[in-house]
Amino acid sequence: MSSNPSIVVVGSLNMDIVLTMSRMPQVGETVAGQQIHYVPGGKGANQAVGCAKLGADTAMVGAVGGDSFGSQLLDNMRGCGVRTEAVTVIPETATGTAAIFHTKEDNCIVVVPGANETVTPEYIERHRSLIQSADLVLLQLETPIPAVRRALELAREAGVRTVLNPAPVHPDAEQMLGLADVLTPNESEFALLCGQAADTEEALRDQMRKWQQTYSQRLVITRGKAGASCLDEHGELHTVPSLPVEVVDTTGAGDTLNAALSVGLASGRGFREALEYAVKAASLSVRKFGAQGGMPTKEEMERINAV
Ligand code: RIB
Repeated sequence: MSSNPSIVVVGSLNMDIVLTMSRMPQVGETVAGQQIHYVPGGKGANQAVGCAKLGADTAMVGAVGGDSFGSQLLDNMRGCGVRTEAVTVIPETATGTAAIFHTKEDNCIVVVPGANETVTPEYIERHRSLIQSADLVLLQLETPIPAVRRALELAREAGVRTVLNPAPVHPDAEQMLGLADVLTPNESEFALLCGQAADTEEALRDQMRKWQQTYSQRLVITRGKAGASCLDEHGELHTVPSLPVEVVDTTGAGDTLNAALSVGLASGRGFREALEYAVKAASLSVRKFGAQGGMPTKEEMERINAV
């Protein structure tokens, strides 16, 4: 098992503007908020920080604006041990931001992509050697689809394994989803991809079987409190339940799961073992505030009984 795998994350960097409130407003309603926080986020950056905390040699490919949010995000990434040579600063452009309505149980997010939208296939091409020398490439859909596609193609060309978190689901992404080796939608994203929600475990299993046969890729469905599911070698649904923990903030739990799954796979763990590691990391991550605040370190993962 390789102890320090190298992972390249291609994706978004956002400043999260988090408004905490005791309950979500209804459409047209005003509610009193409790606090406002500015914390580093973006699915790509969160996943990169998650990988670095778990001991992977991690590099990020993406873009920030030439504003103070951009420099704060870069400082944070470096402070967490993520290499940022492939994060470009775009002058006179705003860094990506996410407005997050946060309650203890849940969140709603609106992302304004800003500099994330400037990432092009040509920009990805400039980082060909970084991508092609990684043990694994991890991607999401908060950067433009043509850039994500190019990164998947480059990785495939070099035989580098890829994990694609198809969030947020994007209609233009459909034809390139099959380029990834592992796809990790949550339940509602998978329902959107299939055009239909699975209302029983058997229906979910059948949808997953069909998907895996069509796209020749492994699926992990993330299921919030219920954990995450994959198909075992017999095509049966295998669900790894979350650990029971005191929940403070669920933002970034999916990002933590993707990071830990990637670190597990890139370190040579088997698929089911990597999924157990991932669900454990995601469970631990919700005990603290902020998308990155609760992400566990490798040492914390080892301290809290071995998986
Ligand atoms: O997955 C959580 C992330 O989604 C937040 O950090 C926010 O920036 C959005 O990208």
